[in-house]
Order: sequence, then C-alpha cells, then structure tokens
Amino acid sequence: MTHDIVILGVFVADTAYRAARLPRMGETLIGSGFSLGPGGKGSNQAVAAARAGGDVGYLTRLGDDDFGAMAREIWAEAGVTSLATIDPTGFTGAAFIFVDQATGQNAIIISPGVGGTISPADVAAQAGAVRSAKIVMTQLEQPLDAAEAMLRTGREGGAATILNPAPAQDLPDAMLSLCDYVTPNETEAEGLTGIAVTDLASAEAAARSLLARGVRKAAIVTLGENGALWVDDTRVVHSPPMSAGPVVDTTGAGDAFNGGLAVALAEGRSPDDAMRFATATAALSVTRPGTAQAMPKRAEIEALLAGA
Ligand code: RIB
Ligand code: NA
Repeated sequence: MTHDIVILGVFVADTAYRAARLPRMGETLIGSGFSLGPGGKGSNQAVAAARAGGDVGYLTRLGDDDFGAMAREIWAEAGVTSLATIDPTGFTGAAFIFVDQATGQNAIIISPGVGGTISPADVAAQAGAVRSAKIVMTQLEQPLDAAEAMLRTGREGGAATILNPAPAQDLPDAMLSLCDYVTPNETEAEGLTGIAVTDLASAEAAARSLLARGVRKAAIVTLGENGALWVDDTRVVHSPPMSAGPVVDTTGAGDAFNGGLAVALAEGRSPDDAMRFATATAALSVTRPGTAQAMPKRAEIEALLAGA
C-alpha cells in the first residue's frame, strides 16, 4: 500500500505537568495540573499531517503495552496508517513535560523506550512504502542511523525528504545532503551551525549555512513567536506568526508545523502557501493542551487561513 507521506519516528506517552516553575533538585513542588496523552515528535507530525488532510503512513516501534495501545488509538482516530512493528521485549516510551502555567512554554525529558531501538532494518522492512512516497520525513528521537536510512531510501525512490532535526544535535554534512528540506527551530539551528539565532537576519544566515553544507532545496527555521523563515537559493519567505486564540500549551507546535508543511509540499503548493499552511497548523495547535491531541483538522486550518 502506498502513502503520499511516510514518516519515521518514535511514539511515547506524554505525561504533562503544569506548574509555576520547575522544582530545584531535592525539592517537591505542588503543580496545577497533569495530563496523559499521545506524543513523540514523529507520531505528532503524523497525526498533524493526517488531520490536515494528508495520506500518511507512520513507521515506528511500539511495545506490547498500554502506551502502545494509546498510539494505535490516536492513529486510528486521526486516520494515520500504522507501519509499526510491535516489539514484545521492550516498553513503549514516555516523556516528562513541564508546562509553564503562565506562558505555555515547555521543557521535556524523553525516554524513548523501544523507539530507541529503531534501526535501519525497520526502514528496510518498509522500503516499498518509503520508496513510493512523495514526502518522507523524520526527526532525531530514534537513532541517527535509522533516520539516515529513511532519508536515503526516500531519496532513492524520488521522494522529497524532510528532516526535522529535533532534539538538537550537530550532524555530518553527509546527512544534510540527504535532505531536501530541514526544519530546525532556533536552538536546533544554532546547534547545527554555531550561529545564534536571535532575529530574522541570523535565522537567514543559519539557513544559508545549512544550504552550503548540502541541504538541497530549502532550510526552514521556525522562530516561535516570530513565525518561520524559508530560505532557498532564489528566495526568502518570512511567514509571520498567526493567532488563533490564547496560547495555552506550545508543546508540539513544531510538530504541527512540520505535519502541515508535509501536507502542503505533498500537494505541490508554492513556498509562500506551504509556509502559511504550516504556520496556521501550528497556530491552532498552541491554543489547546497536549501535543497529538491538539492537532487541528483541515477545515480549521482553512478557516484560519481564510480569515488571515
Ligand atoms: O515535540 C513535542 C514532543 O516532544 C512531545 O510530544 C514529547 O513526546 C517529545 O517527544
Ligand atoms: Na498544544
């Protein structure tokens, strides 16, 4: 079975705690809320893309446990086709998420569980689906060799490849040259290039450095409340932020952006349109608590774009 968009990544259960601040070491702090829900950057991106109207397959590893069942439930609800392997020898992972109750900003510790054992063999087992996709996307929560195999296999089949280089780390140029698009946030762009991203000019400089190091089509830097910047050899597109209501939880906003971007690129939209579609997807996601569960439906994205 073929899918327009095939994504590799981990699934974890997000355990989110709202509080006024992080506790200090040795301290116990009473928070203001807790929630448990589906997460993991790749899975969030897959849910975002499917709700945004994409035909999406998701490649990962799950344990045979309750968190694994949570994954299958959100994918079924969103219309993501599972390309997952069940690994009964390990557990589905979890993430600790601190959400600042005043600002909606977050800090995360992820323990990927069996997602941390995803290997190039998992990609090889789904090579048919990966090769026949229009868009192949991955992040860096599973081992790097698996991400590299995903990008390489997508490239062999003629897919456009997107790397969301999160969590932040430096990458070899050989890996960047397997990417048609990279989508770092400010921190990740700095980790990759050494250029501190503080404004549009520094974001453009970081993006140009990624293009010089081998990224083929465009480097797209997401800038939080400053929107996002697309840079390629012939143009710079700044997508200003959009507001869809009060910000309650920014966790997963980058995943929403990447899911929206994948759909827009699969539909052959122009850079301007693709950036607006991705920005609208992210803007809606931050008005709701949680990550995968906060991803908007296509009709909501279109309504926001029509009013913007
Ligand atoms: O990008 C947000 C995600 O990062 C969360 O869902 C959490 O699981 C971590 O992987
Ligand atoms: Na959210």
